[in-house]
Amino acid sequence: MVYNIGLLGLGTVGGGTAKILLDPVDRHPLLEEIKIKQIGVRDKSKTRDVPLPPDLILNTDLEAIVKDPEIDIIVELIGGLEPARSLILTAIDQGKHIVTANKAVIARYGDEIYAAANEKGVYVLLEAAVGGGIPVIKPLKQSLGVNKIKNVIGIVNGTTNYILTRMSGEKASFEEVLKEAQELGYAEADPTADVDGLDAADKISILASLAFSGKVKREDVYTEGIRQVSAADINYADKLGFIIKLLAIAESNHQLGEEALQLRVTPTLLPKDHPLASINGVYNAILVEGEPLGQVMFFGPGAGAGATASAVVSDIMNIVGILKSSGNTNDLDPLLSYSPSHYCKITPIEELITRFYVRFVCRDIPGVIGHLGTCFGKSNVSLESVVQIGFLGELAEIVVVTHDVREGNFRQALEEISKLEAFKSIPSILRVL
Ligand code: NAP
Ligand code: HSE
Repeated sequence: MVYNIGLLGLGTVGGGTAKILLDPVDRHPLLEEIKIKQIGVRDKSKTRDVPLPPDLILNTDLEAIVKDPEIDIIVELIGGLEPARSLILTAIDQGKHIVTANKAVIARYGDEIYAAANEKGVYVLLEAAVGGGIPVIKPLKQSLGVNKIKNVIGIVNGTTNYILTRMSGEKASFEEVLKEAQELGYAEADPTADVDGLDAADKISILASLAFSGKVKREDVYTEGIRQVSAADINYADKLGFIIKLLAIAESNHQLGEEALQLRVTPTLLPKDHPLASINGVYNAILVEGEPLGQVMFFGPGAGAGATASAVVSDIMNIVGILKSSGNTNDLDPLLSYSPSHYCKITPIEELITRFYVRFVCRDIPGVIGHLGTCFGKSNVSLESVVQIGFLGELAEIVVVTHDVREGNFRQALEEISKLEAFKSIPSILRVL
């Protein structure tokens, strides 16, 4: 039996996917039964680095592909919100299963897409949407399903991890490394999604929804990107025993007696001996803590053609495996489908309890450190260290690391500090894990 694929997109991931499907030898035998029937692209005249068989022609009419009655599975790899969302919904309406790497569309329209898929009895699988080639979606749905998850902490964006790693190790410039990440096919079509933390926020909302078995509204993820992380902060963090990573965190407040989740993406100082501190370059890692399992970490290449295509094709194989063993039934495997009914309650950012790193620029006058300490004390912010790190001409640079504090109290202290006579600016505020 042959299962037909409609491949939407032949870019970085689509190209990698086609390469695997067109070269099934020495891989899983099921791949021999999977055939690409049509490929949808925007521009047929573009040079492609995938050697396509002569009978496989490119089509710019993607609507026709999703309506092709001979196609069993639509693999959406065009990215973006529209027409991706509409094409997915049309394909579902036509009774086709979906495989996608599009975290942006799932994080925003997952409700609508899953509702349609469950009604039609088709699968929507998205292993490639989070962590590139790392198997993490299926393990969360299945192998870890028995655990009460406490937290999910991840480095889930390859581009920003690549940038931060190169800025730390080789003191390379932000712009130069971002350009490289784009050339390597890691970055999104609009790389601001990577740099501003939006891609990581899409991913943590998907992971949180699976880990905590509830829907997550994308806008509930507090998000900061890496633009504010300077070479100076990387250097000071290093001196204090930390490394800076863009972390995506979903944490249950259950221990605090609340049924709410903390959700955030922020550049964060990690102690150098933390398991995530050594994840460098395009690699991603997701650390999951559950009861009774304890901690488990998923690690691997987080972006790039081959790695991501490996996850895409594993989803295609999963669907084909089910179709083969059970026929085309409307009874979805509850371990592969997704159907939570309620929304997770989210703790507002002002209520978050975290440690902070903050770098002040102040006039270098006697008593300035004492004044900073007083302002923090008045807002109930306890300090772990205050270090005058250097000078910028006549001005002093002071780095403060707090103990665990309520975000609201910390912000209140900063407001007080900004009124001090000696205060000049706050070039950066980062969180500390
Ligand atoms: P890409 O290299 O820009 O490729 C996009 C492909 O889709 C191109 O072949 C393009 O056609 C086609 N396309 C885009 N819009 C179209 C439209 N309106 N109509 C017809 N064809 C259209 O993107 P990518 O990096 O492969 O990413 C694809 C998806 O995978 C995105 O959702 C992305 O977030 C996700 N993803 C990417 C990575 C990665 O490492 N790159 C990793 C994980 C997930 P043309 O070739 O004719 O322009
Ligand atoms: N742009 C994304 C990243 C691709 O850099 O992680 C993988 O999802």
